[in-house]
Amino acid sequence: FISSTFCMRFPTVQMANVTRLCGTKGIVTVNGEYPGPALLAREGDRVVVRVTNRVAHNVTLHWHGIRQLRSGWADGPAYVTQCPIQTGQSYVYDFTVTGQRGTLWWHAHISWLRATVYGAIVILPKHGVPYPFPPPHEEVPVVLGEWWRADTEAVVRQALRTGGAPNISDAFTINGLPGPLYNCSAKDTFKLKVEPGKTYMLRLVNAALNDELFFSVANHTLTVVEVDAVYVKPFTVKTLIISPGQTTNVLLTAKPFYPKANFYMLAAPYSTIRPGTFDNTTVAGILEYQKPGSPSMSSFDKDLPLFKPVLPRFNDTGFVTNFTSKLRSLATPQYPAAVPRSVDKRFFFTVGLGTLPCPANTTCQGPTNKTQFAAAMNNVSLVLPSTALLQSHFTGVSRGVYGSNFPVTPLLKFNYTGAPPNNTNVAKGTKLLVLPFNASVELVMQDTSILGFESHPLHLHGFNFFVVGQGFGNYDAVNDPAKFNLVDPVERNTVGVPAGGWVAIRFLADNPGVWFMHCHLEVHTTWGLRMAWLVLDGSLPNQKLLPPPADLPKC
Ligand code: C2O
Repeated sequence: FISSTFCMRFPTVQMANVTRLCGTKGIVTVNGEYPGPALLAREGDRVVVRVTNRVAHNVTLHWHGIRQLRSGWADGPAYVTQCPIQTGQSYVYDFTVTGQRGTLWWHAHISWLRATVYGAIVILPKHGVPYPFPPPHEEVPVVLGEWWRADTEAVVRQALRTGGAPNISDAFTINGLPGPLYNCSAKDTFKLKVEPGKTYMLRLVNAALNDELFFSVANHTLTVVEVDAVYVKPFTVKTLIISPGQTTNVLLTAKPFYPKANFYMLAAPYSTIRPGTFDNTTVAGILEYQKPGSPSMSSFDKDLPLFKPVLPRFNDTGFVTNFTSKLRSLATPQYPAAVPRSVDKRFFFTVGLGTLPCPANTTCQGPTNKTQFAAAMNNVSLVLPSTALLQSHFTGVSRGVYGSNFPVTPLLKFNYTGAPPNNTNVAKGTKLLVLPFNASVELVMQDTSILGFESHPLHLHGFNFFVVGQGFGNYDAVNDPAKFNLVDPVERNTVGVPAGGWVAIRFLADNPGVWFMHCHLEVHTTWGLRMAWLVLDGSLPNQKLLPPPADLPKC
């Protein structure tokens, strides 16, 4: 195959006025579109995107889940792989899609701008390579989002000023539309029009900022065939769970005959924190059938009965565990599961919330009025530098920017899922964990009870990993590894650390660069639940990070 070059021509980051829930606000967009345009590519394509910033904010774009082999300069997280694109400036993201096909997504990767700056990435298989399932009649991106009436930059600014939790959102959206269960939003409803007997592939993306979501379509089943742009062994469910950062392709087969009914598709949050502190609302879209004999798709017929699916309770961890345990790699000769069998480096990270003391002579709105909310991995709450980590690594000037001493295990050991320790303070720091090229890594991530159990969708840039094990309570390094699945574990880029439990992942550090890893609940990233790996160059010329492009933005 000769790769073609795909070019999403000159996307411009610009403001647009958008009305939702009867209120109009100016939002940051790509090309004035909300959600942003889908990026369509084919496996093997080189993608060249020249991004121009025409808003008053600093901006970067991230291509979530794209491996970025040796092209870390195009990854996008601000102050990790690049300085932001400043107002009036441009930057060309240039990367090749290698060994991936399916659904991913792109989003802004600075502050909370991804609230409105996001879109799907659709990667088709190479020409002539079929899907490992019957080809669908149609493919439809279904991108779940989260909407605030207020300006989300003001929401996060206020939270950081007070040390308190940011205001919760006002609605969830499907392809930018909140749907009929919200005030004055019936006209803003996503509609999926289907023909009897045909199969549709929904390319689901959870682009919400702070909420894991259940998703279901009344009286229809969903066959999961791919997650995070990797095929899985198909399985059929009525409801699925999808965390921020994750993507899921499902096949939906329409009823064989005109059903004389309409069907809601619903999404609502999964949350293990106290009720009232999350947006407990529901977004609805409508699945409707083409009327027999009508040449075109009829519009929504309000007189037909409307069926509603029943979603799990908001805190149904049992459902989540049951669903995620069904995810398995295809593990066929054509799509093998390349699970690292041996391990060179073992790491154990606690993940969770914590506190920082309130600045002197002020009162805060954290867990107490003397504290502000924080979050950390191995008690390190990452402070981003004012330059880019990758740049300081590449130029060899790390002094004053980062240390290479991220703890490989918690410095203070405690009963992570028992009574929380008295001192809940985290330490601030900018520390990287250095890996030699091609190291095979096993990482166990353990949720803690500090400020309550919560599920944390952890996202790793630059790699896919295999989810070899998970469980509740404290990880048992003696007995749990015997239960690891090294045959067909799911391969993905974002995994939920179970609330009050742990997850074990393995990956091969075959991609030199600096790679961000963080909770994809934006509020937790903001509080510091983030770290970065530094993968060194290998000895061969094709094992080295390429030099930065000439137009790499300056801080
Ligand atoms: Cu989708 Cu670092 O993010």
